[in-house]
Amino acid sequence: MDASSPMLKDKVAIVTGGGDGIGKGIALTFARFGADVVIADRNQIAGEQVAEEVRAVGRRGEAMTTDIRDFEQVKAMVARTVDELGGVDILVNNAGGTRHMAFLDMGEAGWRKHIDLNLMGLFNCTDAAVRAMIDGKRQGSIVNISSIEGLRAAPMYSVYAACKAGMLNFTRSMALELADHGIRVNAIAPDFIGTPHTMPSMTPERIQGVLRGIPLGRIGSVEDVAGACVYLCSDLGAWTTGITISVDGGTWASSGWTRDDKGDWSLFQ
Ligand SMILES: NC(=O)c1ccc[n+]([C@@H]2O[C@H](COP(=O)([O-])OP(=O)(O)OC[C@H]3O[C@@H](n4cnc5c(N)ncnc54)[C@H](O)[C@@H]3O)[C@@H](O)[C@H]2O)c1
Repeated sequence: MDASSPMLKDKVAIVTGGGDGIGKGIALTFARFGADVVIADRNQIAGEQVAEEVRAVGRRGEAMTTDIRDFEQVKAMVARTVDELGGVDILVNNAGGTRHMAFLDMGEAGWRKHIDLNLMGLFNCTDAAVRAMIDGKRQGSIVNISSIEGLRAAPMYSVYAACKAGMLNFTRSMALELADHGIRVNAIAPDFIGTPHTMPSMTPERIQGVLRGIPLGRIGSVEDVAGACVYLCSDLGAWTTGITISVDGGTWASSGWTRDDKGDWSLFQ
C-alpha cells in the first residue's frame, strides 16, 4: 500500500487487540499513514513490540495494557490516551474471537464468555471512546471488526455468529445516533485472514478447501483489512457511515458457489 500521502496525519487511533494478527496489521498501517497509535491489548509484551514498531516509522506508539472486558481498565486506557496523546480520533474495535464449539456443548458459561469478549468489550470501548471524542469535539471514526460469520449462518460458531451479527446492526444504529456529533461508525466483515494464529492449523488440503469458495483465489492478509480501515478512518471516507465492507475476496458475493476440481464454478460438489 502506498503511504506517501499521510491520510491519517496526526490522528490518534486506539486499536484494541493491536498486539497481534489483524489488529497489529491495522496499527502498523495506520502509523505508516501518519497516525499515532495506542495498542490496547491484554498481552503486554505483544503490545510493547507493536508500539515499538509504530515508533520506528516515526509516529507516537503507546502500549496500554487493557482487557477490553474490564470497563475500568478501558476507561483508564482512554483517559490516558487523552492525557498523553491529546484526544481520540479513531477507535478500531478489533479484539474478539471464538472457538469451534457445538451449541449443545457450550452451556451458559461458554455463551457468556463470548458475549463478554465480543459484545461487552464492544460496549466498554465504544462508550469510553465516544465520550472522549465528544468532549474533545473530534470528528471521530469508529470501525468495528465483525466477520463474514456475522452475515451468514455459522454452524459450530453460533454464539460468535450472533455476536458478529449484533455488531453489524449496532454499527448501523450508532451511525445514526452519533451522526450529529460528526462521528462515523462503520464495520468490516472479513473472511479468513492469514495470521500467526489462524495459519498454523491450516494443512494444504484445508487451504485448498477454503480457496474453492474465495473467488479472488487467495487467503486474505491483515493489510487487506487495514486498507479498508484507512479508507473508513480518513477523509476519503468522510461521507461513509453505517456501512459494512466485506473484505473477503468475493466470498459473500459467491454465496455457496464454489470452484470444482477443474476450476469451474458450481453449486453442487
Ligand atoms: N483472522 C480471521 O480469519 C478473522 C476473520 C474474520 C474476523 N476476524 C475478527 O478479527 C478480529 C481479530 O482477529 P485475529 O484473528 O487477528 O485475532 P488474534 O487472536 O490473532 O489476535 C487478537 C489480539 O487480541 C488480543 N486480545 C484477545 N482478547 C483480548 C481482550 N479481552 N482484551 C484486549 N485484547 C485482547 C490478543 O492478545 C491478540 O493480540 C477478531 O474480532 C476476529 O473475530 C478474524
